[in-house]
Amino acid sequence: MNADLEKKIREALANPKNLGEMPDADSIGTVGNSDCGEMLRLWVKFKDDKGKRVIDKATFQSFGCETAIAVASMATELIKGKTAEEALAMKTEDLSGGLGPLPPMKIHCAELVEGALRSALDPVNQTAAPAPVATAPATTGTNLIDSLSQEKKSGVKITFLPPAAK
Ligand code: FES
Repeated sequence: MNADLEKKIREALANPKNLGEMPDADSIGTVGNSDCGEMLRLWVKFKDDKGKRVIDKATFQSFGCETAIAVASMATELIKGKTAEEALAMKTEDLSGGLGPLPPMKIHCAELVEGALRSALDPVNQTAAPAPVATAPATTGTNLIDSLSQEKKSGVKITFLPPAAK
């Protein structure tokens, strides 16, 4: 990874945007990468904007990979004000925003964010989206691992991305 990208990732990690659960989310997407073990969950809340249903805010939780966290931080800012269709039309390089081009070994990190976005915004997934976060006791931990272990019984859907081509 080049020094410029490392610096930008460090800056994004120093002040990550939109980190954490969103109890009143309209939609939730969770993806995992079976290669590296990284998981990422995205919460999305919509609002009405002059008759259009647009993304009001999005938050995320992740663990493990700094690049995925940096991309998720940027992507959750970039999709604000977009319709679900507009957000779904964004490619991984769009979601990475100011990070610039990612090296081949890190592209799957951005794809993890894209996958979570698709999982949250795809109409098929929206109808199947669980609402367990809202029912989780407020006293429990707020990390993704805690949340996932509580939701095992609720049938939460985790989409595992296909292994990256090597
Ligand atoms: Fe796998 Fe970043 S190393 S998501």
